Amino acid sequence: MTKSPEIVIEVKDLCKTYFMSGGASQVVLKHLSFKIYSGEFVAIMGHSGSGKSTLMNILGCLDRPTTGGYFLAEEPVAQATDAELADIRGSKIGFVFQNFNLMMKRTIADNVSLPLIYQGVSDHERRERAIEMLKRVGLEGYENRLPTQISGGMQQRVAIARALINNPKIIFADEPTGNLDTRTSDEIMNLFADLNKQGITIVLVTHEEDVADYAKRLIKITDGQVEYDGPRKDYHP
Ligand SMILES: Nc1ncnc2c1ncn2[C@@H]1O[C@H](COP(=O)(O)OP(=O)(O)OP(=O)(O)O)[C@@H](O)[C@H]1O
Ligand SMILES: [Mg+2]
Repeated sequence: MTKSPEIVIEVKDLCKTYFMSGGASQVVLKHLSFKIYSGEFVAIMGHSGSGKSTLMNILGCLDRPTTGGYFLAEEPVAQATDAELADIRGSKIGFVFQNFNLMMKRTIADNVSLPLIYQGVSDHERRERAIEMLKRVGLEGYENRLPTQISGGMQQRVAIARALINNPKIIFADEPTGNLDTRTSDEIMNLFADLNKQGITIVLVTHEEDVADYAKRLIKITDGQVEYDGPRKDYHP
């Protein structure tokens, strides 16, 4: 008997409106619905301003939808409190940003082990686990450097090591290669592909067709709605 794949993300009729001071508002996400299964590699594409980062911030538990449902590993999180969202971010998911978001005055090891501070892990264990994660992303021996002493591609590897430190089942990345040259982008994408082979679900936003080619599934967002959702190989812009 084959086991049906586990749903890791379910978005149901999700809407997001930003309310600005002075009473203005902007509807950004309009009735999105989709499921993502364990082990998938999904690229999200769409024009600038189409709502990709807004969606990623909700999926990554950095923000909440205005209406609609969001289930992460079957847990409803659309109405979670700030503290609950922080808890989920610290334990279930990893997030990688375009600009790496590293603490520039702290060592690589401190950056990677940061998420463990909130769990009360000892200094010694944090360092051990940071070194282990750095090995996983090909940065063995770099633990004592500062982010300013390594290249942009290496800084993104550090950010990926930080995203991995809690053994998440899913990693979200918003334009992770946006600040990198083509060769370095390929290296980072190969790293994501390896992590995906190890069973981690990957959801990433990109503007670049070559980067999207690493994914098996594409979700194209146009004006806050899903324009295409299917195999990457069947979508030709
Ligand atoms: N915090 C916010 N408050 C108000 N409006 C916002 C906020 N964040 C985003 N927006 C608006 O929502 C729309 C979608 O923004 P979003 O950042 O999700 O787009 P995007 O698809 O990620 O674009 P890009 O490709 O340029 O990164 C834009 O019109 C933007 O101005
Ligand atoms: Mg964006």
